[in-house]
Amino acid sequence: MPCVNLKSMLKKAVDEGYSVPAFNIVNELTARAIVKTSEALRAPVILQTSVGTVKEIGPESLIGFLRGLAERAGVPVAIHLDHCTDVALAKKCVDLGWSSVMIDASREPLAENIRKTREVVLYASAGGVSVEGELGAIGGVEDHIAVSEEDARLASVEDSVTFVRETGVDAFAPAVGTAHGLYKAEPRLDFGRFERIRRSVDVPLVVHGGTGLSDEAFHRFVSLGASKINISTALKAAYLGALRAFFEQNPDCGNPLKADASAYARVAELCETFVRLFSAAGRA
Ligand code: 13P
Repeated sequence: MPCVNLKSMLKKAVDEGYSVPAFNIVNELTARAIVKTSEALRAPVILQTSVGTVKEIGPESLIGFLRGLAERAGVPVAIHLDHCTDVALAKKCVDLGWSSVMIDASREPLAENIRKTREVVLYASAGGVSVEGELGAIGGVEDHIAVSEEDARLASVEDSVTFVRETGVDAFAPAVGTAHGLYKAEPRLDFGRFERIRRSVDVPLVVHGGTGLSDEAFHRFVSLGASKINISTALKAAYLGALRAFFEQNPDCGNPLKADASAYARVAELCETFVRLFSAAGRA
């Protein structure tokens, strides 16, 4: 199946009232486990790549194997660049074959955030590539971006309307109290704000900081119209946790493929949990 962009993938999610999970994969194994599990569950899925992963593997090699996986998949797969603060890198990923990119200029003043995001939207849309933008400041650490608790800032409804209208983004991530990484305390999620933004803008909404939210919080976001929910830290923990456990139990194992198989199984299990939680199973 050809790789799909975020716009068409999320339109169906909005119409039918479910969320598509976006998993920050770290290598070929994690991407394959996510795609194969989504196929088995007949679920659309987003393979999300952090800038760190792009730089480590190299954009050409990374997109080469991700597109191969997506094109052979029997379900819709989007390949999305996460939290890119660099306009030039976002454009490069557009050129190389990502089907959507996030330009994150949320640390800039509103006018500059709009200007940079608009520049990427104009560039990407010419090639049918979707763009996600962010407003406010989502707390915690994601890849190369760290936002302290004091600096975390929620998105206002008024600025959200301006941002979406002026940029033309295809998906919008307003800060509503979630945070990247592990929560140190119970998060203060502003569902009311999320709902008001949902009613005020006409693009699919994205929730960042999925790791550590309760099932109840996920259900609430899905029922309030979140169309894409990001999961990164939980995937990395599942992958590394499985490898650690494998070598504890098999300290003398000399076959990397056996260790890989344990990590694959754990990532596949994690994928299934979120696909079902977000009501995405059977939607492809
Ligand atoms: P978590 O690491 O909290 O799952 O957040 C993922 C995310 O939002 C990536 O952009």
